[in-house]
Amino acid sequence: MLDILMVVSEAVPYSKTGGLGDVGGALPAALAHLGHRVTVATPRYRGMDGGQAVAAFGRGAWFGAPDCRVLESVHDDGVRFWFVDCPAYYDREELYADARGDYPDNYMRFALLSRAALECAATTGMRPSIVHAHDWQAGLVPVYLRERFRGHPAFDAVGTVFTIHNLAYQGNFGREVLPQLDLPWDVFTGEGLEFWDKASFLKAGINYSEIVTTVSRRYAQEIQTAEQGFGFEGILRRRAAVLVGIRNGVDVRAWDPANDPLLPARFNAADLAGKAEVKRALLARFGLDAPGQWARPVIGMVSRMVDQKGLDLIFAAVTAGALQALDASFVILGTGAPKYEAMWRDLAARHPNRVAVTVGFSEELAHLIEGGSDIFFMPSRFEPCGLNQMYSLRYGTVPVVRATGGLDDTVTDVDESTGEGTGFKFRAYTAEAMMEALRRALSWYARPAAWRRIQLAGMAQDNSWEASAREYVEVYARARERAGRG
Ligand code: ADP
Ligand code: GLC
Repeated sequence: MLDILMVVSEAVPYSKTGGLGDVGGALPAALAHLGHRVTVATPRYRGMDGGQAVAAFGRGAWFGAPDCRVLESVHDDGVRFWFVDCPAYYDREELYADARGDYPDNYMRFALLSRAALECAATTGMRPSIVHAHDWQAGLVPVYLRERFRGHPAFDAVGTVFTIHNLAYQGNFGREVLPQLDLPWDVFTGEGLEFWDKASFLKAGINYSEIVTTVSRRYAQEIQTAEQGFGFEGILRRRAAVLVGIRNGVDVRAWDPANDPLLPARFNAADLAGKAEVKRALLARFGLDAPGQWARPVIGMVSRMVDQKGLDLIFAAVTAGALQALDASFVILGTGAPKYEAMWRDLAARHPNRVAVTVGFSEELAHLIEGGSDIFFMPSRFEPCGLNQMYSLRYGTVPVVRATGGLDDTVTDVDESTGEGTGFKFRAYTAEAMMEALRRALSWYARPAAWRRIQLAGMAQDNSWEASAREYVEVYARARERAGRG
């Protein structure tokens, strides 16, 4: 049995801006299910309550951060949460940014998360066998371990793993932050955390951990290329021997069409009748239920409205009049760049019977769209893993995706001659290729029996966490070996 300390800036049910939150909630549960002891250290953001104080650290204990406490709460499944409580840092409207942009003290806020997690382990007598840090927000974890806990008995059996969920977010800050973070200048080198004269939390995580993972096999390859490496391709190629891709899973407790309390009806592969009911409810909810609308295929999207998610391609297709020319309805949920929010609102105003958008974040609507749509649309420019396409597959909602990252790994393109496959993929990042994939999907939709086969093939796919959690356990063993602790 391993004693795993996870450091992650989002975890459902407490906090979530995207897939990181899903993983922060579900991976610990899956590891606990395999018999490991898991502790998740995460910020106590606004609105979170509960927990018993297990540690308190005074202002300036390690660096200039305000007073903080750590509150502990243990879930029924055995996962223990450590909420780092520092209201001056975490009691804010959003997790990372407000309308003016990123919070300027993010480097302090997330350095505190990393440091407090380790200090709490040290002062409460935990002896972790693995410390697993996620994304740039936890990138300083292995650096603090090396620089500030070298030889500390709490960590004499530890191996470190760092997971990249999205290379586009790097946590790069001016070099002057280093002394403020209680780090010595000798980490500021190319082999350390210096990145184009900045202190990069992402690079810290990559360079100071025994093993680096990312969230799909395909993305693990892609990030070693100039096209998808965001300037990190060289760094990652140097670490290729310890770079591992492990696909995220679906938390089947939260995403199960046969047992989803957020749906107005339930269904499964043996009986899809409930799906038709969910579609009706979806159309009614979004005001697309005028007579004659029912037969039209519904294309759904739940997404951050940013370029990563292919919104620039959609913008081009809308500008050219191509998207709205499809004989389909669109149900859209998301927030993001004002330009894209306005584009959808505009389109909905011009096609009130066929296009509806909700700008906002809603777990309930996300489930309704996954359940009630015929097609789920994810034309991402890059996608480390992507969770929505996997939810769609489970819900009999056929994904149309760009063949990149986790989308490429989890969706099988329908073979035009045999009809075998689970979705529709396009490769070139162009509006034309995207439109072609949508048209192809619609032409198969027009053949109900063939469409049903595609739906059922997707529903039969097992993307649960179990297998992925086992792969993490193997990676943990390797990390401990590399640290000389096997
Ligand atoms: P990313 O993390 O890059 O945004 P993922 O596909 O991994 O992409 O995960 C996105 C997660 O966030 C999914 O669980 C999705 O349902 C959810 N999500 C995204 N936007 C919204 C929204 N507007 N309302 C509710 N859930 C959302
Ligand atoms: C990132 C990626 C997404 C991935 C998620 C969880 O937000 O953009 O593809 O699924 O992290 O790993």
